[in-house]
Amino acid sequence: MLSNILERLKDAFGYGSKYYNGDLIEYFDDLFKQLEKKLIEPENAKSKVKELFLANQDLKSHFLDTYCDKQQERKHLQIIGSKVRLFNRLRFGIINLEENGYEPIHCHQGFISFQIVLAGKCTLDEFDKISLKGNKVIFKPYKNQVLSSNDVMLNFSRFRGIHGFGAIEGPTRILTIGKYYGLFGKYRFSTNNRGYLDIDNQKKISSQLLQTSLIEEREAYSKYSKINNFS
Ligand SMILES: [Fe+2]
Repeated sequence: MLSNILERLKDAFGYGSKYYNGDLIEYFDDLFKQLEKKLIEPENAKSKVKELFLANQDLKSHFLDTYCDKQQERKHLQIIGSKVRLFNRLRFGIINLEENGYEPIHCHQGFISFQIVLAGKCTLDEFDKISLKGNKVIFKPYKNQVLSSNDVMLNFSRFRGIHGFGAIEGPTRILTIGKYYGLFGKYRFSTNNRGYLDIDNQKKISSQLLQTSLIEEREAYSKYSKINNFS
């Protein structure tokens, strides 16, 4: 417990990998604030992040070389650092998907994130979360997209709050930079801050809206963790 608190304090005071305290964290801090205050449109924010990575290929190589090496243990989500503050937390991570692997469609609460495709191709299903009451979620789908290296996803309460994505034509590596809200960024919605949608049991409730229920993580992964497993 004590060592945990000490680690959090060290993080908060800036001991960590250099870029968690440098330009990159400042850049995303600022961009998250602009989105919170509605000073930038979500699509413009995505374009800015894409331009950042296109203009700094070293940045992409850094993450790929340091964290996506073939020899390394492949965790599905590898947390590579975080900066904890009193009322929020920024977290950097790498999502590894093997070919045909799919991150089951889920919603987030108290969380905003950019995800940058570092390598590979990614199929992306996005939805706006219209409401979440108890176990029932109402949502609006968008056209499926295919993302390539340097393409960016953005998800938060006002913009594409529900998504699922998978690796096509080989493995995919994605850098995720997220901001969690709440005391020390510990807002808890579920054990891993995701609510998984039972997408095959969706019902159409109007011309644009669909409804389904949330399911447990284990069920979501057993039903939906491969692209070909579901429609
Ligand atoms: Fe997500």
